[in-house]
Amino acid sequence: MYNILLIGNGAREHVIAETVKRSRHEINLFSCMKSNNPGIASLSEKVMLGSYSNLEDICGFAKENNIDFAIIGPEDPLNNGVVDALLKEHIPSVGPTKSCARLETSKMFTRDLLDKYNIPGNARFRVFSALDGIPEFIAELDGIVLKPDGLTGGKGVMVQGDHFRTREEAMDKCCDILEEHESVIVEEKFDGEEFSLQCLCDGTTVVATPPVQDHKRRFVEDKGPNTGGMGSYSMEDHLLPFMTEKDVVAGLEITQKVADAIRKETGEEYKGIMYGGFIITKDGVKLLEYNARFGDPEAMNTLPLLKTDFVDVCRAIIEGKLSGLTIECEKKATVCKYIVPKGYGLPKDHPDAKSTSARIAVDSVEDVNLYYSSVDKRDDGLYMTTSRAIGVVGIADNLEDAEKKAEQAIASIQGPVDHRPDIGTKKLIKKRIEHMEKIRG
Ligand code: GLY
Repeated sequence: MYNILLIGNGAREHVIAETVKRSRHEINLFSCMKSNNPGIASLSEKVMLGSYSNLEDICGFAKENNIDFAIIGPEDPLNNGVVDALLKEHIPSVGPTKSCARLETSKMFTRDLLDKYNIPGNARFRVFSALDGIPEFIAELDGIVLKPDGLTGGKGVMVQGDHFRTREEAMDKCCDILEEHESVIVEEKFDGEEFSLQCLCDGTTVVATPPVQDHKRRFVEDKGPNTGGMGSYSMEDHLLPFMTEKDVVAGLEITQKVADAIRKETGEEYKGIMYGGFIITKDGVKLLEYNARFGDPEAMNTLPLLKTDFVDVCRAIIEGKLSGLTIECEKKATVCKYIVPKGYGLPKDHPDAKSTSARIAVDSVEDVNLYYSSVDKRDDGLYMTTSRAIGVVGIADNLEDAEKKAEQAIASIQGPVDHRPDIGTKKLIKKRIEHMEKIRG
């Protein structure tokens, strides 16, 4: 029997909870959430509601419940050092220490690491703590990306063409970033197709799960503002329609080298998830950024397909025994679409921006997986908040059927909701393939 602590309250943690409970082992799940996720709560023995920065309370809850190990869902508790605090109480985690989590929490750490250890896939970049030298460097780049150093909730990266146009505007953005942050990373912009590769790492061995493609933009055809992710898909052959096996291998090799470099650089073993955001360019696979956790929504594509017992996977990560475990995923296609309030991602003065906090009805949804994110269960029903509400996941032998399943379920959800009907459709996939063909020449 295992007592497992899960930290986090989103749809990613809901699917983690479900995957833990699918284990052949007897599991008592304990959850620490900053707001109550009814899906996670229904799978838990006990719930602690509180802030992810209150390490004393989290450790107290863990000790009180004789936790064997913890699984850390989001980046905030990693950045707060929850893994280090739990380790002091002799409780191991699936999740890196604060120092290793810099892979996500400091863009500068990661770019420097790839540079220092000659790891392929890095961008041309420079880090500036003042404006001096920036005009000369951006004059050398064809396209520009600006990143503040530190966690910005996915909203800090500024891309030429999306957030600014000219080099002069790039300088204005650098000024803004340096007013709030100690440094700005200026790097080259890549053109290509992106994929997410969520890898498991026990400190030495790195194992990839099937690649997934996320859709950041709020509206169909990749229009509108960037969001936390409106949905994602994966294919039954564990490739994406625009990629080759070589591209996956390239992403995995980069990640293996990064795991080795982290060990040398920090003297610590990275135990947890290394989720690489990669892009396939005309010059091969390049790294956009790493996250130190499963992706949201990507975890909803991957974990339901996992055939290997997830609790065994977690133990292997903690005990450094991943090389002795065969990690298998079902050969199925998946389509995840997020149900969001109509007002999600809209400017505050937009007429639809008020349609958050509304009640929704989710009746008789069959043959799909539903994962709660920002919803509030009250006596009179389920209410959305201001963010992504429910991840709807269709799983089938092919993408077309997986997409249909997700759409059928979404059609039965009532309330002022929205989603992206184009995710996982032939039309959008064709666009991705044509884009990649053009790039590869
Ligand atoms: N899929 C984006 C993220 O998890 O950060």
